[in-house]
Amino acid sequence: MTESITFDDARPSARVARSEVRRALVKSFGCQMNIYDSQRIADLAALEGYAEAARVEDADLVVLNTCHIRERASEKIFSELGKLRELKDERRKAGKGVTLVVAGCVAQAEGAEILRRQPAVDVVVGPQSYHRLPYLLREAQVRSGVIDTEFPAEDKFSRLPPSSREAIARRGAVAFVAVQEGCDKFCSFCVVPYTRGAEVSRPVGAIVQEIERLAAGGVREVMLIGQNVNAYHGLDGDGRPVRLSGLIRAAAAVHGIRRVRYATSHPNDMGDDLIAAHRDVEALAPYLHLPVQSGSDRVLASMNRRHTVAGYLDIVTRARAARSDIALSSDFIVGYPGESDADFRATLDLAAKVHYASSYAFKYSPRPGTPAAEMEGQVGEAVKASRLAELQALLEQQRQAFNQASIGRRFDVLFEKPGRRDGQVIGRSPYMQSVFAEGPLAVVGAMAEVEIVAAGPYSLQGRIVSPASY
Ligand code: SAH
Ligand code: SF4
Ligand code: F3S
Repeated sequence: MTESITFDDARPSARVARSEVRRALVKSFGCQMNIYDSQRIADLAALEGYAEAARVEDADLVVLNTCHIRERASEKIFSELGKLRELKDERRKAGKGVTLVVAGCVAQAEGAEILRRQPAVDVVVGPQSYHRLPYLLREAQVRSGVIDTEFPAEDKFSRLPPSSREAIARRGAVAFVAVQEGCDKFCSFCVVPYTRGAEVSRPVGAIVQEIERLAAGGVREVMLIGQNVNAYHGLDGDGRPVRLSGLIRAAAAVHGIRRVRYATSHPNDMGDDLIAAHRDVEALAPYLHLPVQSGSDRVLASMNRRHTVAGYLDIVTRARAARSDIALSSDFIVGYPGESDADFRATLDLAAKVHYASSYAFKYSPRPGTPAAEMEGQVGEAVKASRLAELQALLEQQRQAFNQASIGRRFDVLFEKPGRRDGQVIGRSPYMQSVFAEGPLAVVGAMAEVEIVAAGPYSLQGRIVSPASY
């Protein structure tokens, strides 16, 4: 498939008969990048004349934006598609159509297999070609089973329409901005290098323009995202490469931006300049998501992570020296092929040493096409389950301890939405903790200093102690 469209050709006015409102629903099943892509797909659909559908039953276009990272994530899609097929059949009886699109990483990995398993699907489109969706939707009107899982040479981002002011306002004060995509690391367990392709960094100018637009629409916090965000090396206007630390400074300088975050980082790309940014850039949240995966050097080597436990701990020490209040989070995998009991104990030891604010732990899930899936020494389900429970219990204890230690501290909280009760507002601390406080609705979208007065299992309770600032 070589044809592509620009969003100028995609403007609906000339083509779409507006006799009745068509609605689109885009459902996200994956990571932050997947959510970002869903928003950009919704922007494309809006330009094609689709209003947003609140429920799948109201939608004329349903896009499932899928995740392939673990088996469960992939399988979920096929059960969802089964339900959508029934909906499509019912609608057909009533003389109406529904267009079903499968996008995202399962689309990339499985391609035509999706159409074989579920012929009700109209379009399959991968994460690097979804800017062509308007064209693909038109194709789907004349033939069934349209597939585009190419990695086109053209720059997807420059072909995507910018989000409208209404869409930005609807999404609230916090936004993701994709700055880097793809991965060249090839950890032995991971599908991402295959589904997202090679590492690509967007130019600084395009990113800053996107952030300026978001800030003008009320966004106060941006999370710079990428599968390997700290490997970022985009070009500035003079063609000089800029690292993530430089991009963070540029983002923080955008008028209206109060907080900058980034995720996800690989230990090997954690340079001194990035650590220094944590010391120097006030708007940079003192929070570092730095997945370690395992606390055993033997397992790390087999995972092709190319860092050691000592190397990882050294980064933690340097980050804490640069910014004493920095908090860490991580991802862990238990039951990786060949993981012994001693290896697993080493993971517990490492977690105990670092003391994380919040972390995710997963059972290893063999992914077709990745080296680890073929390795000997696959660990049984019962062992995986018991290791996961033990590690999660420790990580949960650490999370609770971190939250308890927040009591009495004062945090800048960016309020994002009204709470369940009248007069209550909910926001996030610099450490991603959910914080609720008594306050007027007018503080939603603003930052205020909050004293933490209590810690529950999932959120903190605070008292606003400064006027809100926008
Ligand atoms: N660098 C990426 C990581 C994506 S995957 C990012 O930007 O988010 C998120 C996490 O899923 C990984 O850190 C890893 O802990 C977990 N994961 C990836 N592949 C997995 C597999 N095959 N089985 C279990 N967990 C896996
Ligand atoms: Fe996957 Fe490793 Fe790349 Fe992260 S660094 S996306 S875990 S291959
Ligand atoms: Fe999933 Fe693809 Fe993200 S596999 S984790 S949606 S990059």
